[in-house]
Amino acid sequence: MTKIMTNTSEHPSKTRRVFAIISHPDAGKTTLTENMLLAAGAIHQAGQVAARGQRRRTQSDWMKIEQERGISVSSSVMTFEHRGLVFNLLDTPGHEDFSEDTYRTLTAADCAVMVLDAAKGIEPQTLKLFEVCRLRDIPIITFVNKFDREARDVFETLAEIEDKLALDVVPMQWPCASGRRFKGMAELGSNIFLPFTSDGEHAGAVEFGGDEMAASIDDADLLEEFSEEVELAREYGEFNEQSFLEGHMTPVYFGSALKKFGVLQLIDALARYAPGPQAQKCIKNGQEDTVAPSDKIVSGFVFKVQANMDPNHRDRVAFLRLSSGVFKRGMKLKTASTKDGGNKTISVHNPILFFAQDRELAELAYAGDIIGIPNHGVLRVGDSLSETGKIKFAGIPNFAPELLRRARLSDPLKAKHLRKALESLAEEGVTQLFKPAMGSDMIVGAVGSLQIDVMAERIKTEYGLEVVFEQSMYQVARWVVSDDPAALQAFIDKNQGAIAEDLDGAPVLLAKSQWDVSYASDKNPSLRFLKIKERS
Ligand code: G4P
Repeated sequence: MTKIMTNTSEHPSKTRRVFAIISHPDAGKTTLTENMLLAAGAIHQAGQVAARGQRRRTQSDWMKIEQERGISVSSSVMTFEHRGLVFNLLDTPGHEDFSEDTYRTLTAADCAVMVLDAAKGIEPQTLKLFEVCRLRDIPIITFVNKFDREARDVFETLAEIEDKLALDVVPMQWPCASGRRFKGMAELGSNIFLPFTSDGEHAGAVEFGGDEMAASIDDADLLEEFSEEVELAREYGEFNEQSFLEGHMTPVYFGSALKKFGVLQLIDALARYAPGPQAQKCIKNGQEDTVAPSDKIVSGFVFKVQANMDPNHRDRVAFLRLSSGVFKRGMKLKTASTKDGGNKTISVHNPILFFAQDRELAELAYAGDIIGIPNHGVLRVGDSLSETGKIKFAGIPNFAPELLRRARLSDPLKAKHLRKALESLAEEGVTQLFKPAMGSDMIVGAVGSLQIDVMAERIKTEYGLEVVFEQSMYQVARWVVSDDPAALQAFIDKNQGAIAEDLDGAPVLLAKSQWDVSYASDKNPSLRFLKIKERS
């Protein structure tokens, strides 16, 4: 370990950049991802990311849902290198039903690229995902895509970002027209013009305002209009890095992901501005503390658990974002102690690094790296892992589900199997599971109905169980907490018919309506009924 530290002038974690791309479906996230990987030389031919997705889809039936509905359900990570930096791109599912999964993925990102369709601006899902980023003040770089098609007025788009997202905007470039008239863009910071060529081959940059720019725009009126717009664009002011890092200002880039135009500039922007791994808040030895990327003790947290990554193994892979230390293959890591006081120890013999096309065994990994840990259901979403087992990261929450369903089996003798399946899927974070204090029902909670469909399909194909998810008599679930344990216990005892336990054993009030929750809250002022639960 010392050898690595002393031989490098900088701690290797400083070269890591973890980012996610957020967008409304169809704005171009997949196309941009693919062309970023191409531009960075991580893949060599377009279609490889999609092909990989295709292969993965054939691996299990439940992924048919992804295919049929044309959406990406599962998120994953892709690593590539550019300009001496290691980028970890976290893929976030765009469908709104998966906002909880997306939220968890974004807890592992230090920066986000927000992709907008130039003709559509801010769309509903952009807004939702942005709000998730704002909860953590993640810095955001904006990419306005599809300038090879007719775009909306750029000033309008920028005003919309400012209005709807309450974010200061600074254009770093300025496009010259759009659609068939699209000629390229000015780099505002460097007095350069990048002519657009539709074949994806970049013509060399030329001087802004020079003869070559005039020749490539080749339209006197457009040239004049463009020059005036650029003057106005400069009035947005200077990019302020501090404001960006605090999540108040977004630099705006433009281009066409499909035509590979502006993609390299976007990666360069990430290389320049995206922050490296930061110190993270945690509970260490029972006290509030932070861990720094350069700390000696290896620590990290699981933000994603995915099944079925390899058809030959039924293992799950836990995605661990490293927060500190130098991880070495074979190391033993411990989970932070659980409620019942135990630590789980796992020897990480086969940690995986995910590249665009390949997976590799990770011999060494640093803060800001994401490693996949194959395991047989030991690791759960939200688990903190460290060499000591005494570091616990906060901030991977559960959201109160918007849908509650009762699981009913056609063969009641298989109840134990069903429980196992539901627990396993809840540990993966696919859905939540609530066990009512009375009766043998199992109540499943989800943010959206697609999650329920995915779960039913997986239970059928992976566990061979026919299960129906029926309307439950409950509509609302709230975690019940209190600083007064006696009051909490009294409430639980008195409301046995409406109390359930979540996967961690935490008490949850299942109610028929929001009104019931408000009533319970009024009657029990020493209790709190929470919509968001941080794991304890
Ligand atoms: P998503 O992941 O955000 O959902 O979007 P995706 O990249 O799948 O893009 C959605 C559609 O928009 C695709 O077209 C894609 O080709 C197109 N697209 C993405 N970027 C650009 C761009 O810069 N310019 C233009 N003109 N189109 C772009 P599709 O017809 O739905 O799919 P496909 O048949 O092309 O794959």
